[in-house]
Amino acid sequence: MGSREAAERLVVALDVTSMEEARAWVERLWPEVRFFKVGLGLFTAAGPAAVHFIKERGGRVFLDLKYHDIPNTVAQAVASAAALGADLLTVHVAGGRSMLERAVQAAEEAAARHRQARPKIVGVTVLTSLDARALEEIGEALPLSDLALKRAQLAKAAGLDGVVCSPLEARTVKLAGGPRFLAVTPGIRPAGAELGDQARAASPEMALQCGADLLVVGRPILEAPDPLAAARRILSQMEAAMKEREGGAGRAAAGRDDAAPGAERGKERGGA
Ligand code: C5P
Repeated sequence: MGSREAAERLVVALDVTSMEEARAWVERLWPEVRFFKVGLGLFTAAGPAAVHFIKERGGRVFLDLKYHDIPNTVAQAVASAAALGADLLTVHVAGGRSMLERAVQAAEEAAARHRQARPKIVGVTVLTSLDARALEEIGEALPLSDLALKRAQLAKAAGLDGVVCSPLEARTVKLAGGPRFLAVTPGIRPAGAELGDQARAASPEMALQCGADLLVVGRPILEAPDPLAAARRILSQMEAAMKEREGGAGRAAAGRDDAAPGAERGKERGGA
């Protein structure tokens, strides 16, 4: 396995819809990857078994179910996710301050009950699939970037650990939330890769240079001719960028190791 620190910051999105496929991907990538994202598709198909499998294997889980409901219901869901052993999970900031605060409180209580580390909770500010017109249609008056920033600030005020954002917004997020406030960034595309439906993508190096703490990568690895080699390439690019970052002035602005939810340590478009 390459640099441990780079590996702690790479999350592979298991965007598949069966336990068999998820299991096969974890095994295939295990030599390099230990942090996996379980999203709506896989969780709806396979349920908690998907999380259990990764945890029992010794990996870490980003449970990306983007909770958005009344505070009591979200608190229940977060408590269940914490009991499952999720290391990182998502809530929609649009659910409001009280929902966010209850989510953090539920995570703390569940972690204490199960004597384990509290999962980190990151907020989705504005879905990147929404453009100005779509926002207007759903009654949002603020320009997209203002709305994303406002929600990042609310996430911080409510005690969340960070937000999901495009790599290009990571710098603004760190400025708004401070160096320990996590910027979790999908939309990673190694130089020359297919953009797919990611409009605001950045290379692994650029994402880290902008201050991203965790890089979420799906298709550039899962659809590569040699997925393990693709993961290795991304990790080595991350490693190089991290060395540079450590040596440079980016250190403070980028958020240090202690911001990464490691197993042992404990757009104009906005958001996710
Ligand atoms: O395949 P790709 O690398 O684009 O996958 C990125 C992952 O991050 C997917 O699981 C996707 O659901 C998730 N995601 C995203 N854009 C956001 C929020 C989450 O691509 N804004």
